[in-house]
Amino acid sequence: MAHFDAIIIGGGPGGYVCAIHAAQLGLNVACVEGRETLGGTCLNVGCIPSKALLHATHSLHEVHENFEKMGLMGGAPTVDWAKMQAYKQDVVNGNTKGIEFLFKKNKVTLLKGWASIPAAGQIKVGDEVHTARAIVIATGSEPSSLAGVTVDEKVVVTSTGALALEAVPKTMVVIGAGVIGLEMGSVYARLGTAVTVVEYLDAITPGMDAEVAKAFKRILERQGLKFVMGAAVQGVSVADGAAKVTYKSRKTEAETVLDADVVLVATGRRPFVAGLGLEALGVEMLPRGQIKTDHFATSVPGIYAIGDAIVGPMLAHKAEDDGMALAEILAGKSGHVNYALVPGVVYTAPEVATVGATEEQLKEAGRAYKVGKFPFMGNARAKAVFQADGFVKLLADATTDRILGCHIIGPGAGDLIHEVCVAMEFGASAQDLALTSHAHPTYSEAVREAALACGLGAIHA
Ligand code: NAI
Repeated sequence: MAHFDAIIIGGGPGGYVCAIHAAQLGLNVACVEGRETLGGTCLNVGCIPSKALLHATHSLHEVHENFEKMGLMGGAPTVDWAKMQAYKQDVVNGNTKGIEFLFKKNKVTLLKGWASIPAAGQIKVGDEVHTARAIVIATGSEPSSLAGVTVDEKVVVTSTGALALEAVPKTMVVIGAGVIGLEMGSVYARLGTAVTVVEYLDAITPGMDAEVAKAFKRILERQGLKFVMGAAVQGVSVADGAAKVTYKSRKTEAETVLDADVVLVATGRRPFVAGLGLEALGVEMLPRGQIKTDHFATSVPGIYAIGDAIVGPMLAHKAEDDGMALAEILAGKSGHVNYALVPGVVYTAPEVATVGATEEQLKEAGRAYKVGKFPFMGNARAKAVFQADGFVKLLADATTDRILGCHIIGPGAGDLIHEVCVAMEFGASAQDLALTSHAHPTYSEAVREAALACGLGAIHA
């Protein structure tokens, strides 16, 4: 048994960042992790392995689509799936080992095993009970289940199984046109799989600026993904290693059956808090399964929660922000997260990135706004590398010119968005961005041009 200032349950982006930052602030910290490796869903079976597969398959797409145009001739590569999987695993291993190193460097004690909380101030891992002034629940989330669908992680898979299929399937049905469905759907479409995405709503990526979502869908369709919109999946049956997906049109109520070698269920995630003993402790929960918190404090003194287990977008970087802020609070300082400016990125090609208000939200709020739009067709760098699809859309207050939101679909969108995040954090106007020098030729010039379009007009459009 040992005593700590803080014990953090969960070594994902929320937990490990909280642990390291609390240690940096001088606290004596332990982090409990049940998995073999640190990094949580993100590093082990989420963001990082999916980015490896997205990179590998995007490279394949480049060879097939654009190499010849640049005078790069020769036999096109074929896919060695086992080798691609090994590359993915190497990327994961490098990153998870990196966190272990960071724990040692910052003197964070790693407790291996699954933790429960027998009482406030106590953590049980295996047969050992440790005590702490603060307990932080950073246990993340798990795929939510869908009525009529049994996941076996071979034929009917969640994102975890989709990252490690035994072979590249000929056909795949993706249930849900959210971030997971579109990222993994893109991976397999580029590998030659016929991918059909079945989505309940009439638009993809719910919550995204409608104009961007529409352009995004068109681009994905051009890349070969098929969409069935306004359709609720009723059930999936599996026989002889293949699946049948039944969906019902919301408009006509007609039922259709699709055959698929693999079905990816990507209909959202839910907090993963089972086995912690929260009910017995009397920790208050919200109707949708999250832990109720006030500045990360749960209803039980001394117990805190962050990341996917509490309200807010289920994003690794939001969990990290929570972890940083809570570490500050535990060290007696003030921790704060500006949730209005947490960016969202879809790592398809092109990428989609968004921050702040959408045009629909501004309309609904009755806010007078202006739109500055600039297409990547007018960006020399994007054109030179066959990535001129998409645009930057900047929304600014009609009177004050203050930036209210930005939505980008195009090359490097996930990196471009951050200059807008910083600008918004400082309360900048569109003109502030427009007057800032942007190196030529870079994709970032498209952001500046969108800012110019909020004023007298873009130069290259
Ligand atoms: P999601 O919430 O993004 O999308 C789920 C989609 O499934 C929705 O469009 C919904 O309308 C649809 N749906 C639900 N039930 C359905 C049914 N019966 N039939 C047809 N469609 C149905 O969830 P997703 O993609 O599973 O992602 C889970 C979480 O992980 C999200 O919070 C996401 O933000 C996060 N994530 C983020 C990534 C990123 O930031 N790049 C990457 C992967 C995941």
